[in-house]
Amino acid sequence: MAELTQIEVNHAEMTKALRGELLAAAREAQAAAYVPYSNFAVGAAALVSDGSIYRGCNIENASFGLTVCAERVAIFNAIGDGRLDIVAIAVVTSAPKLCKPCGACRQVIAEFSQADNPIIVLSASHSGETEMQTIAELLPDTFALL
Ligand code: THU
Repeated sequence: MAELTQIEVNHAEMTKALRGELLAAAREAQAAAYVPYSNFAVGAAALVSDGSIYRGCNIENASFGLTVCAERVAIFNAIGDGRLDIVAIAVVTSAPKLCKPCGACRQVIAEFSQADNPIIVLSASHSGETEMQTIAELLPDTFALL
C-alpha cells in the first residue's frame, strides 16, 4: 500500500484495485475471528488516507453482550494508532448474501466521518457480490453532540 500516498478517496476514486486490496485485507482479518458461539466470522479493514490498512475481526465472549464486531475492532485499531483519517471500511462474511454493518457499528463509523467526504462502506458476500455505500447513506440523520 506504500504507493497510495495521501489519497483522497471518494466513490469515484475507489478503484477496482483498491477495492480488491481492501477486501483481501478484510478476508485475512476474517480468518482471525474468535467466534465460538455464533460461528459467524466477520472481517473488516479500515483504509486511512495514506493508504495504510487496519484490520479487525469479531471477538465474541461467553457473556454474549461483550462481543465486539469486526468493524469496530478495525476502526479502534486505526484510532488507537492515532489515525482519525479513515476514508473507507470493507466488511466481509461467509454468508451467501451481503451483510452490512450493524447499527452500533454505523454510529461508530459516523463518529469518524466528515460531512464533505463521508466514509465509504464496502460490503462483500461470500459469493463475491459487493456493494459500496457511504456511511451517510447507511446512517442518515446521525446522532451527534457537536
Ligand atoms: N457482527 C459483526 O462483526 N459485525 C456486524 O456488523 C454485525 C455482527 C458479529 C457479531 C457476532 O460475533 C456475529 O457477527 C453474529 O452476530
